[in-house]
Amino acid sequence: MKNYKEDFPILKQRIKGKPLVYLDNSATTQKPKAVIQAITDYYEKDNANVHRGVHELSMRASIAYENAHKRVAEFIGAEEEEIIFTKGTTESINFLAYVLGRSLKAGDEILLSEMEHHSNFVPWQQIAKEKGAKLKIIPITKEFRLDMKAAENLLTQKTKILAITHCSNVLGTINPIKELAKMAHQVNATLIVDAAQSVPHMQIDVKELDCDFLAFSGHKMFGPTGIGVLYGKRKLLENLEPFMYGGGMIEEVTQEKSTWKDSPWRFEAGTPNIEGAIGLAKAIEYIQDIGITNIESYTGTLTEYALKELKKVKGIKIIGPQDINNRAPVISFTIQGMHPHDVGEILNQEGVAIRGGNHCAMPLMTSLKLDGTNRASFHIYNTKEDIDTLIKAIKKAQDIFK
Ligand code: ALA
Repeated sequence: MKNYKEDFPILKQRIKGKPLVYLDNSATTQKPKAVIQAITDYYEKDNANVHRGVHELSMRASIAYENAHKRVAEFIGAEEEEIIFTKGTTESINFLAYVLGRSLKAGDEILLSEMEHHSNFVPWQQIAKEKGAKLKIIPITKEFRLDMKAAENLLTQKTKILAITHCSNVLGTINPIKELAKMAHQVNATLIVDAAQSVPHMQIDVKELDCDFLAFSGHKMFGPTGIGVLYGKRKLLENLEPFMYGGGMIEEVTQEKSTWKDSPWRFEAGTPNIEGAIGLAKAIEYIQDIGITNIESYTGTLTEYALKELKKVKGIKIIGPQDINNRAPVISFTIQGMHPHDVGEILNQEGVAIRGGNHCAMPLMTSLKLDGTNRASFHIYNTKEDIDTLIKAIKKAQDIFK
């Protein structure tokens, strides 16, 4: 396996005099040279507004922007018209809560899971409050898996929306979306998938998953920040009213009324994040050159190794599935007698970057009766040596806290 660190300029630096070991990939990934260069090239050669001019630069920018939609569509098995660019997963889900929320009535139910990130929890909680709808929560099992029996019981004719994460950003658990899609569609509920943590790590085919909507972010998959995706089934998007109004989404405006372009443009009002789309397209090209299944199997090996090594350390408790099946390269753990923020700070002295805290998943932390966890998350540039450095740093932190 090539050492992919070479492709990422930021990883060459030292932190506190030690080589940087970046293990916070669930928060955001680093960017390869190819992505940085694609953004620079766009600004140095092609910068113009899209869909608004007949001049050469505008045409080049428009083609690059449209091609980015195509690249994303191909990557997840969708049609070009089914890909809407947003600011990120959070905006994609807020978009849905807003537009789908319009037709919710008092007594309707929205079903979520206990392992949701705030971005797939709070928008639904707010819309439920506004509409008098009821929020219901699927619990997790002792093994940190979704309780499918409970899910089956909670999905009823009253359920209008099932919004669930594909992969927990805390536990690493991967949920069985195909099965959930079948269950949701049996009661005519709309299935929304938060795929922020899965698209960067595993092969996704939206047609195979049969989800109605799926959201993810560019920055967790080597792309820039500020660009994200909302996939929606074409026939559902055709019947959705826009989320925002303005330039770029209009077919005709008179003093009396306005009509909209077709999807995706009707959902992308205003000047979009053109550089973000171009950067994301390049990031996908980078992933495709390596092969998403190669990424999945390599990071799977790292996760297996990390689980094994972490379990050997006294005082460590893994908060997430113990086995590698249906599990992403995200490992949460607690260390007896140490607060995650203290662990994070001591590890930083060793050049190791991990995240500590509630990971924007407070309902899950409350259920687990935890203040927070430490979390190490891996991607293609991480190595077994990085994990060894992590373990050494943890032992050093334990020594300090003795
Ligand atoms: N959602 C990101 C994380 O889990 C920020 O760290």
